Amino acid sequence: MRTPFTEAFGVEYPIVQGGMQWVGRAELAGAVSEAGGLGLITALTQPTPEDLTKEIARAREITDKPFGVNLTILPTIKPVPYDEYRHAIVDAGITIVETAGSNPAPHMDFFHEHNVKVLHKCTSVRHAVKAQAVGVDGISIDGFECAGHPGEDDVPGLILIAAARKEISIPMIASGGFADGRGLVAALALGADGINMGTRFMCTVESPIHEKVKQQIVENSELDTELIFRTLRNTSRVASNEVSRETVRILNEGGKFEDVQQLVAGVRGVKVYENGDPEAGIWSAGQVQGLIDDIPTCADLISRIVAEADEIVNERLSALVGAGEQVQA
Ligand SMILES: Cc1cc2nc3c(=O)[nH]c(=O)nc-3n(C[C@H](O)[C@H](O)[C@H](O)COP(=O)(O)O)c2cc1C
Repeated sequence: MRTPFTEAFGVEYPIVQGGMQWVGRAELAGAVSEAGGLGLITALTQPTPEDLTKEIARAREITDKPFGVNLTILPTIKPVPYDEYRHAIVDAGITIVETAGSNPAPHMDFFHEHNVKVLHKCTSVRHAVKAQAVGVDGISIDGFECAGHPGEDDVPGLILIAAARKEISIPMIASGGFADGRGLVAALALGADGINMGTRFMCTVESPIHEKVKQQIVENSELDTELIFRTLRNTSRVASNEVSRETVRILNEGGKFEDVQQLVAGVRGVKVYENGDPEAGIWSAGQVQGLIDDIPTCADLISRIVAEADEIVNERLSALVGAGEQVQA
């Protein structure tokens, strides 16, 4: 399966595992890349740039194939030494970086000087156009369905992917709501060159989170997410639980960030993954939970997606198009 994305980024399949705080560790990124996709280690999950260097080395023990690093640039309570993380990335010989959260421009010269390709993830056509103009090598366009930060425009993938394609001439992958071969074919049909998945990869054997959280994702439906921080214009899509519902309630009643700070604290979120208690805090998950019914290995997941996409294109769709030709004849 060759697309402009696989060609530009040197991977076998146009399937990316997006950056995931607390989840995007070496075992997951390594397994995705080893299976022919593009795995990404999440830089800021590592407490220091030195820890990131060690995490990259751990992933190299899992795969010789290319994997990348996600660098998320969002407002944080504690300042992040981005410059040091950038140096750790290039010093470790990484050649692909996923940027997300804000304009990648301040990072472009450094990464390109060090032969690093930049895949910028964003949630609007205007941000994609801006990223293309500042020279990124690929766009990952993230629809409203997605886990994490969907932005404030609320445009779902069905519109966003096609609208972005009209403006984007560099390789572009579609993100948000993808879990299977049907999604991959749909993304390609809408003009994307591949897909990015978060929640689906979170629910795999190699994903380094507690089994009970994976089982919760399998049980959850497409209705089981909440949009927190809407009133603060920093929306985040997370799994629905007592904590996220309470956060939404307080903010909707006029509360400020300080009023929910304890509820949304990262330390509570980490406990969800470590102790396997889906009610312990806030954890990101997308509407695509409704399409996730099992916990496969990354290799099984990727080969299944590719086989399913192949079958849809070569059997179902070609039969439909063939039938149309017969009717016309
Ligand atoms: C648990 C989790 C944590 C995430 N953390 C980040 C992050 O730190 N940085 C980032 O750019 N995206 C993050 N995302 C978003 C994903 O990279 C991806 O864009 C999103 O999950 C796509 O939507 P999907 O879950 O429907 O596949 C996270 C997603 C999940 C599920």
